[in-house]
Amino acid sequence: MFIYIMILMSTTEGSRATEVITPKSERVFALEGDNVTLSCNYSGSVRGVHWYRQYAGSPPQFLILEDSGVTTEAIPPVPRVTINHRKEQSHVDLEISSATVSDSALYYCALEPTVQETQ
Ligand SMILES: *[C@@H]1O[C@H](CO)[C@@H](O)[C@H](O)[C@H]1NC(C)=O
Ligand SMILES: *[C@@H]1O[C@H](CO)[C@@H](O)[C@H](O)[C@H]1NC(C)=O
Repeated sequence: MFIYIMILMSTTEGSRATEVITPKSERVFALEGDNVTLSCNYSGSVRGVHWYRQYAGSPPQFLILEDSGVTTEAIPPVPRVTINHRKEQSHVDLEISSATVSDSALYYCALEPTVQETQ
């Protein structure tokens, strides 16, 4: 059975519109058991990147984030997802290992711009 994934990009609330993020491909098809990599490119200065997924009719679910080199998982952790943020390339991957039909969803990568100095 096919696994159908859509990727959308967004910046976190309150950010300036300077960071433009582009999904490498907006739709990803996979088969059960495949390892799937979802990618976003962005421009601008970014501190952290969050990944969310959303099922139809449900609010977005936080998956994982990387902020200044530190990875934070959801509580409880969402199994089979890892994040790989290559800041020097303005590129972030979400890797889903051994995809299952339940991974069919809309995925968001969301940026945390460095211009926000809220901490
Ligand atoms: C994303 O960046 C990589 C290099 O880091 C480049 O090869 C790729 O074409 C870019 N994709 C998009 C959609 O801009
Ligand atoms: C997926 O990745 C794991 C290790 O991360 C590897 O053991 C496995 O063979 C990979 N599966 C496929 C279908 O490539």
